Amino acid sequence: MADAVQDLTVDEEVLDGYEGAIPRHVAVIMDGNGRWAKQRGKNRIRGHQAGADAVRCTVESCRYLEVEVLTLYAFSAQNWGRPRREVSGLMTLFNRYIKKERERLLRNGIRLQVIGDRSRLSKKLQKAIANLESASADNDGMTLQVAVSYGGRDEILRACRRLAGLAKRGDIPIEEFDEELFSSQLYTADCIDPELVIRTSGEQRISNFLLWQVAYSELYFTKTLWPDFDESQLLAAFEDYGKRQRRFGKTGEQVAE
Ligand code: FPP
Repeated sequence: MADAVQDLTVDEEVLDGYEGAIPRHVAVIMDGNGRWAKQRGKNRIRGHQAGADAVRCTVESCRYLEVEVLTLYAFSAQNWGRPRREVSGLMTLFNRYIKKERERLLRNGIRLQVIGDRSRLSKKLQKAIANLESASADNDGMTLQVAVSYGGRDEILRACRRLAGLAKRGDIPIEEFDEELFSSQLYTADCIDPELVIRTSGEQRISNFLLWQVAYSELYFTKTLWPDFDESQLLAAFEDYGKRQRRFGKTGEQVAE
């Protein structure tokens, strides 16, 4: 169990004693809130509220299991096109999450980082995010990256523009452009690539999520809707991940050596 963690809302009976693989960086496409709500005759916002409870559970389980980075896809650049009521409901939830979870995140050594085009968020939310990012900047228990107003293609284009700027100013010759330099211009610059990507709700797509970073990630799809995703589901994903052989283009025999 992780050191210096306090009152995590984890089911210790399920998590304690788990000795399977633990990915260093887990990224999650949290899908199925709308369907979860519909099945219960509730509106979509209620589904997102239940999704926020599942966020707390996964954040704290990952912290407990000593995952280094957890990235959650909370709101895509394309999600701005959803009905106004739903968008504003989600923004209220993000604001509430930052406020409500602040102390728990800090107390448990979690560093928050938000990735995406935050200029589209309200000034109030931008301020709340910046404030918690700076208050948690020195925490080294786990990094929680939340993708909000995030698009993988946008991120790649933004990196290209930044690189073009460097080349134009003569700061870096084009011949020196390589994968490492490119990665350094992404939102995720200081972070290892995801080893495992989980998508809930039975959909099997990447949906513009971390397009550059998932080049060699293992993908895990589950039919469970996001609000129902709990500790045992997380461990099932880790167990499955532990059975994979990551080859990075080499042969199975080479990797086994
Ligand atoms: C996708 O499900 C989910 C979202 C677009 C929102 C994700 C937000 C949360 C889990 C809640 C708050 C998050 C944080 C970090 C506090 P969907 O609505 O597309 O589901 P559907 O496909 O069943 O309609």
